[in-house]
Amino acid sequence: MNKKFKRTLITSALPYANGPVHIGHLAGVYVPADIYARYLRLKGEDVFFVGGSDEHGVPITIKAKKEGVTPQDIVDRYHNIIKKSFEGLGISFDVYGRTTSATHRKTASDFFRRLYEKGEFVEKSSMQLYDEEAGQFLADRYVTGTCPHCGNEKAYGDQCEKCGTSLNATDLINPKSAITGNTPVLKETFHWFLPLDKWEPELRRWILEEHKEWKPNVYGQCKSWLDLGLQPRAVSRDLDWGIPVPVEGAEGKVLYVWFDAPIGYISNTIDALGDDWERWWKDPETRMLHFIGKDNIVFHCIVFPSMLMADGSFNLPDNVPANEFLNLENDKISTSQNWAVWLHEYLEELPGKQDTLRYVLTANAPETKDNNFTWKDFQARNNNELVAILGNFINRAVVLTHKYFGGVVPSVSVLETVDTQLIGEIEKLKTEMSEALDTFHFREALRVAMDMARAGNRYLQETEPWKVSKSDMERTGTILNIAIQTCANLAIAFEPFLPFMADKLVKMLGLGKITWDMLGSFDLVAAGSHIGEPELLFEKIEDSVVEAQVKKLQDAKEKNKLAAWKPEEVKVNVDFETFEKIDIRVGKVLECSKVKKSKKLLQFLIDDGMSKRTILSGIAESYEDPSVLVGKEICFIANFEPRKMMGIESQGMILSAVNPNGKLTVISPSADVAPGASVG
Ligand code: MF3
Ligand code: ZN
Repeated sequence: MNKKFKRTLITSALPYANGPVHIGHLAGVYVPADIYARYLRLKGEDVFFVGGSDEHGVPITIKAKKEGVTPQDIVDRYHNIIKKSFEGLGISFDVYGRTTSATHRKTASDFFRRLYEKGEFVEKSSMQLYDEEAGQFLADRYVTGTCPHCGNEKAYGDQCEKCGTSLNATDLINPKSAITGNTPVLKETFHWFLPLDKWEPELRRWILEEHKEWKPNVYGQCKSWLDLGLQPRAVSRDLDWGIPVPVEGAEGKVLYVWFDAPIGYISNTIDALGDDWERWWKDPETRMLHFIGKDNIVFHCIVFPSMLMADGSFNLPDNVPANEFLNLENDKISTSQNWAVWLHEYLEELPGKQDTLRYVLTANAPETKDNNFTWKDFQARNNNELVAILGNFINRAVVLTHKYFGGVVPSVSVLETVDTQLIGEIEKLKTEMSEALDTFHFREALRVAMDMARAGNRYLQETEPWKVSKSDMERTGTILNIAIQTCANLAIAFEPFLPFMADKLVKMLGLGKITWDMLGSFDLVAAGSHIGEPELLFEKIEDSVVEAQVKKLQDAKEKNKLAAWKPEEVKVNVDFETFEKIDIRVGKVLECSKVKKSKKLLQFLIDDGMSKRTILSGIAESYEDPSVLVGKEICFIANFEPRKMMGIESQGMILSAVNPNGKLTVISPSADVAPGASVG
């Protein structure tokens, strides 16, 4: 770490407590932040890792209204689910707080008041959207409408999710209230604005000149914001859920969620550390890092820093290693469409597989561009990498040590070239890993860690202790000692990534406390010490497991299709005479089978009350077994002009209804009537 700093404060975006967290959150923010925190701790550095739930904002109140519960009920529910999910996945927060805590309310209020008293806000009246029926101003997610930039008809009042532009509710074309569906009117109100323009020159210097080392995606987004020119931003809202604006004349107004949420990082530090918190926020020897997803860049690089500068006593972040997005099975993750892998469900459905998920999400981390998660890749990486490379090496080393030396680590005699080569290789890989970790290149660091395991496998392949043991136990001992030391190195190298596996391995080898300094040493496990029984560190994932997950996603998609289904518009009216011309009858199905060489056609033989007639109907794809229709009474058009299909004459038309997923069902009378009966 840069000599300037004595300690590192790591923050990770506070997830909204309006739903559970999914793999996109984990891959973009929490796993990288956790890897980094664990790495620094291994290096013996002073680290404080802050997390928590973001419990204000409009989506929470919308959800509460929909369910007929209070916003507090909603955030209590999801805060607990989210907190448990993170614990389950080994995210090693030093504190996980919430923005409805008393400490936070006070910290955020005080923050606002300090800025208010310093004259850092501008008070402005403006026309805002108002829902007359609901008697409420509509901000942010309370309005939807057409995005003025890309034409997306489902843009929100704060952002268009399609083109990513951040919006004001009044920018929307054809706005609609999310509460009543009404078209809102404009009504005057006033708010406090933070003049970001005031901080623009300082932000330009601080980011564009002093932080050229930031990731290109982060630096680029900041530059384009700054180049567009910054505007004052409203930091209050006319809502009843949030932290009341703590000044006179502010009845009915609360702090804008993006004003209070980042202050949550401070409040949570205070909650955990008491008076000691200031060292972590104000001492210039503390380095602050914000781990976030790309949709949060402007708030963490422009808005929050402006707030901190306006206060004047806080540090600014030293880096903001934001990630891009993770897609799921080639589609954008969508909370509302349930196109997501929810962490609390993952933990339940794939117990004991936390490290596999952490591994796959890091190997596919959306560090520089959006990336994709598929269950097939998840399975392949588990089976071909974790099981076949890492698990296999460790297992072989431990099993052979038990087999030839009863689990007692043998001593080393003379080192051969192949041994020193491996030792040199691990040392070299350690340097590469440290470089990658120091610069937030976690996928690269993980790949290098895996190279250590590959080197171990190669070593066993080359030295073949199972053969050497037939003639030379001394040499066998040396080989297995080195193999066991390599396992110990793997425990350290993988600890930030796969903490559950590392923990087991540390116990198996009796390592005690591990540090990053120890990585590269080959005297980590003393000769003569006992190692534990071989334990399976990873297990193969069967096809059925990932198939069930894919099916679950497809079912969600199907359900959405049904939910979104709307009947067709009614056709233009016809008069009675026209209607009467159509002769609809009931017939009894005598035979029914698929027409050969046709995917769509079923051939019916119908008793129409007078004789038998053949009718073809294009519903074969909806009836896997057409014989279920035999014996049924169905409705058909008896005077439909006969026509030939596939060389067969069809004498009529069977009536069927189409259900929302496209499946066709024949229409039958609800009680038996005689074949030939008229329908009208
Ligand atoms: N809740 C926000 C989101 O999920 C993130 C808030 S980060 C904080 O996008 F800085 F405001 F806390
Ligand atoms: Zn748009």
